[in-house]
Amino acid sequence: MTPTTEMYFWDLAKYGEMTTLHLGSKTWIFLNSKRVVAEIIAKRGSMTNTRSPMPVSSGIVSHDRRSLIMPQEAWAEPRRVMHSLLSGTALQQYGEWQEMESTQMMAEYVLKPRSWYRHHYRYANSVIHRIAFGERLQKSTKELEDMQNCVTFFVGSIGTSIIDWFPDLAKLPKFLQVWRLYWTPLGDWNYDVYRSWWDPIRRQVEEGTAKPSFVRDVLLNPETKYSGSDEDAMYVALQLIEAGSDTTREALNIMVMAALEHPEVFSKARAEVDRVCGTGPDARLPRLSDMEQLGYICAMAKEILRWRPIFVVTPDHTASKDFEFEGYTFPEGTGFVINEVPVGNECERPDDFYPERWMDGHETDIAHGLWQFGGGRRICVGYRLAQRSLFINIARLVQSVDFKPAGFYNPKVLNLEAVNEPFPVQVTMRSKDYENLIIREAGVAGVMEDAKLVRDTL
Ligand code: HEM
Repeated sequence: MTPTTEMYFWDLAKYGEMTTLHLGSKTWIFLNSKRVVAEIIAKRGSMTNTRSPMPVSSGIVSHDRRSLIMPQEAWAEPRRVMHSLLSGTALQQYGEWQEMESTQMMAEYVLKPRSWYRHHYRYANSVIHRIAFGERLQKSTKELEDMQNCVTFFVGSIGTSIIDWFPDLAKLPKFLQVWRLYWTPLGDWNYDVYRSWWDPIRRQVEEGTAKPSFVRDVLLNPETKYSGSDEDAMYVALQLIEAGSDTTREALNIMVMAALEHPEVFSKARAEVDRVCGTGPDARLPRLSDMEQLGYICAMAKEILRWRPIFVVTPDHTASKDFEFEGYTFPEGTGFVINEVPVGNECERPDDFYPERWMDGHETDIAHGLWQFGGGRRICVGYRLAQRSLFINIARLVQSVDFKPAGFYNPKVLNLEAVNEPFPVQVTMRSKDYENLIIREAGVAGVMEDAKLVRDTL
């Protein structure tokens, strides 16, 4: 999303709490305040729960199998199986892996501080790979690039084809659908990349050699009674990897930008971590079980996503029947979009990175009052996992790392898509004590050798 598009969405809020846009044959209502988002997306979630047809990005590019943009009837079954990711048991099990990958990330910081952004990338990919497939990430640069390109092409396909704005055109006879010449090879290529990641893990599950994971224990577990085909299951698993990696990496990069811009917040956060985890040679690494005691760190995770939202708009929540709201009649098919910038700026001192605004007793619930994860029944299925990843890494980075600007940067330009350094940062470790602590913990967790390899495996 360019700053110009962002400004355009921001401007839409000038017209009030809701703004109607006619885009092709679709009608979208931009929801510009927290109040209307809560009313329409959350309270009326049972009626605003489907998605509008997207013959290109959902149909051709995703083979009608990415649940994120599926209409309600098709979405219910993949959502049912993914729902376990929000449960306490899953959080407990996957938490161990999040802590271990985070320990490796910290060791990478010690060994290669200049590659800080690469460590976020590896962490995010590796942790979701482990949750989905049960293995630590051992993919070649080419395989990782291919997966990254699947995300880029898919996201890039949303809204770019005129056909998705006039979906009735997809009812033309196939030989007249000339756009297929462009989009079909892209969708088929995406399918082949997914296959190359999926077939080995499915085989391991069949042969009984797979390690515990979402795929083995939930998706392909006969007790789950998942009714989708092999291809459906493949898209559920790979979509999870896609959705879980970039978002986490981007949020961690935003955290670094906040550290450059608001060092005073990081000093305060460090004092909180020090109080709970000790200092100097007596310090220990923060753990997920510290969450209740590290409320300020939890508030920082929320503020990161409010201050520089990853999603400027969320996918449209579409009305599945006509309904009335405060004197307006919305016909079936109307799409509702959360306009994240005005919604996130509906507070005091919106330009400041000010975690205190979230210290309201709900700071450990990342989705409370924050709409970056969408909402209603479609709310991001990974939001609790995301929160835990952000928490553990923010707490540890705040504890042990000092971030300073290393050249000119524009604090509004995050270069979120960049795989190279998104903005110039000088990274130094707080002191030898913290380096020793991290190296010791990485040794105990058995990830030191992997941390040394990081440059070669990305
Ligand atoms: C900062 C991190 C993240 C943000 C901001 C984020 C945001 C979102 C948003 C806005 C949606 C659409 C919700 C709606 O339509 O109302 C979504 C859906 C989704 N997210 Fe996330 N997400 C994050 C992390 C994750 C993680 C870590 C995972 C995987 C564990 C994940 C998996 C998914 C999936 C699978 C969907 C589609 C759910 C469905 O089809 O019902 N996300 N996310």
